[in-house]
Amino acid sequence: MADARPKRVTVPWIAAASERGERLVMLTAYDYPSARLVEAGGADIVLVGDSLAMVVLGHPDTLAVTMDEMLHHVKAARRGTERALLVADMPYGSFHLGPEQAVANAVRFLKEGGAEAVKIEGARPEIARALVAAEVPVMGHLGLTPQSLHRFGGFKVQGRGEEAREALLAAAAEVEAAGAFALVLECIPSALAAEVTARLGIPTLGIGAGAACDGQVLVFHDLLGFEERIAPRFVRRYAQLGRDAREALAAFAEDVRAGRFPAAAESYEDPLAARTKAPSELARIYGG
Ligand code: KIV
Repeated sequence: MADARPKRVTVPWIAAASERGERLVMLTAYDYPSARLVEAGGADIVLVGDSLAMVVLGHPDTLAVTMDEMLHHVKAARRGTERALLVADMPYGSFHLGPEQAVANAVRFLKEGGAEAVKIEGARPEIARALVAAEVPVMGHLGLTPQSLHRFGGFKVQGRGEEAREALLAAAAEVEAAGAFALVLECIPSALAAEVTARLGIPTLGIGAGAACDGQVLVFHDLLGFEERIAPRFVRRYAQLGRDAREALAAFAEDVRAGRFPAAAESYEDPLAARTKAPSELARIYGG
């Protein structure tokens, strides 16, 4: 089947995906090699998520990662992304002081990092409006927003019960009205995600939000099995690269200790030193 995707994915192309009935693919990436792999895999959107804090930097949650750390990784992912839309996640504390701080930090992601849009967690229409007014395209993120970890009392499914359902529907409408071009829905009941998706004109990207969303997103390390701590039920592991990497690294260590690495073919000769070699060795080196 012909690839209907544009040579370069743009914000308006993403925003119109649900009109076209197209299912979007978003994956996280945090550096040059992961962005290249994600793009080669056909993702429409490369998200430099603040999950960086957990899967790359080893923190227990996403709260500690800073603007400067995020920016460093956005720049690297930029160098590995040619076709997909590059979205930078605004880390905790980078927009919570108000619209002015949000715009200043988001502009850094676009100007210094080469991102094409930012993602903000939570229902913050005043922040989204200010960003859009400053020419920064905004992706919203509702449901289990990890930056709200302490308010939620843990990583818990959101939007359960009538009150929570109503609140999420209202928040989604606010995010769209504020000018967001897409909305991530994380860890909410599938029926609620379907309702949000049906009500909004902008596409929804689900993670633990069922199959009715306009697209799906997963974290690079989860999908590939690099992240081996307990996986939430929405993670499908398509590979076990953590295990494969451990086996490969252990094989290297064994070979070194047993003197099997490097072999002659993995080593260099100095032909000038050949004077000291036996005639048969000289013939091997010079092809005699
Ligand atoms: O930080 C992240 O990786 C995210 C995605 C899971 C949507 O926000």
